[in-house]
Amino acid sequence: MKRPTKASFSLLFLCQIVIAQKDNAAECDCFKTNGSSSAYFAYHQFFDYRSIDPSLASTPPVLQSASESTNASDTSKYFSNVTWTQNWQAATWSNSDYLGTSGSDASVLMLNSKNNIYISSETNLHEGYTTLLTLRTARTEDFQSAGEIDSVKQNFEYMSVRYLARVYGNLGGCAGLFTYRCPDSHCSSTSTSVEEADIEILTRDPLNVVQYTNQPSESPSGKTLTAATRNGTLQTGTWSDWNEYRYDWTPGLSTWYVNGTESASIGFQAPKNPTGLILNMWGDGGSWTGNMSVGAAAYLQLQWIDFVYNTSGTLAGASQARGDKSRLSEKRESSCKSVCSIEGNPQRGTPVLISTSGAISRSNEQKTSRLILVLTITLLKAYFI
Ligand SMILES: *[C@@H]1O[C@H](CO)[C@@H](O)[C@H](O)[C@H]1NC(C)=O
Ligand SMILES: *[C@@H]1O[C@H](CO)[C@@H](O)[C@H](O)[C@H]1NC(C)=O
Ligand SMILES: *[C@@H]1O[C@H](CO)[C@@H](O)[C@H](O)[C@H]1NC(C)=O
Ligand SMILES: *[C@@H]1O[C@H](CO)[C@@H](O)[C@H](O)[C@H]1NC(C)=O
Repeated sequence: MKRPTKASFSLLFLCQIVIAQKDNAAECDCFKTNGSSSAYFAYHQFFDYRSIDPSLASTPPVLQSASESTNASDTSKYFSNVTWTQNWQAATWSNSDYLGTSGSDASVLMLNSKNNIYISSETNLHEGYTTLLTLRTARTEDFQSAGEIDSVKQNFEYMSVRYLARVYGNLGGCAGLFTYRCPDSHCSSTSTSVEEADIEILTRDPLNVVQYTNQPSESPSGKTLTAATRNGTLQTGTWSDWNEYRYDWTPGLSTWYVNGTESASIGFQAPKNPTGLILNMWGDGGSWTGNMSVGAAAYLQLQWIDFVYNTSGTLAGASQARGDKSRLSEKRESSCKSVCSIEGNPQRGTPVLISTSGAISRSNEQKTSRLILVLTITLLKAYFI
């Protein structure tokens, strides 16, 4: 009687391994994306802000003092967790060094603050999800308070990144979702050294306009480089609705999609060198964002970021830190035998196996049921023989 008990224990144990592997995409050697910019990538990461412990959510009041704003601490314990700290950093820089100089047409002091990065409670999400990540910009009497997060990794080299995001609020804000490389101490819209591919939503723009740009957007003499930018129009709804924005960086090309449909593609000034990723919500009273009225505010909110990429050199922060729940899937071998996709799975963030080379192609479900069958036979044999 002892043997079957042992066998059923290991059956349970093995099934759990199979299921856990499926969730973590451990059987994926690489990830293939669809669309005209289809490519293969070695790494996948899914950042999910929808089901954070509600006790970590709060909306901090806008800080009115410049020094308090600059020195603000994290708005939630969530931001001291490794899932956050291994991957993102809140910016605290300001435009004070170049405000009023020829390289900037800003008319307002802008201060980035950790106080503008917070976890919000939200009751109207589908499937019972309850939280979001919010980036805020707000105008105080003395300055424009802004929010920005930067990726810890700065060596992304080609990517396909998708954001489920919405933007709302008063005029004078700009929501930015972009790659950024500035080898100098400061880069402006006329810098020749900047490499930057943008998704930008201006709260002063019509509600269906999204702008895509491979920076710089102006020549050194200040002339608009029309080849560097496109005005996209949302096919349905507005940017205050939840939309899935996608940016693909492949060799020599930037391609942007909204809700699975291509909206722009620009080869001119496409990024060349390894880069970081930035998300921000800002304004500076310049000609790009326009002025925000004192007391007004605007918001960029995210449900998740689904991200496949390659890196230049090693994967910075290589193996995932203990407790990092962002679900990093690393390439297992240099060749890609098991190809996965991050598209088409209603359970967002869990890649699905789409093909295997060499061996007969089998789905996860088939593999799992085959294993269960084999184990059941072993169990029955152990019991009866
Ligand atoms: C990629 O696949 C998804 C899921 O099947 C689909 O919704 C989307 O439209 C596709 N995108 C392109 C550009 O083919
Ligand atoms: C990413 O790296 C893999 C090899 O690890 C390569 O096969 C693939 O083509 C690379 N993707 C891009 C867009 O260069
Ligand atoms: C985009 O639209 C704005 C007005 O909303 C216009 O000023 C700008 O010239 C347009 N840019 C391009 C590249 O069409
Ligand atoms: C914003 O307001 C300032 C001060 O009132 C003004 O100097 C500046 O021209 C305004 N900027 C824009 C883009 O309207």
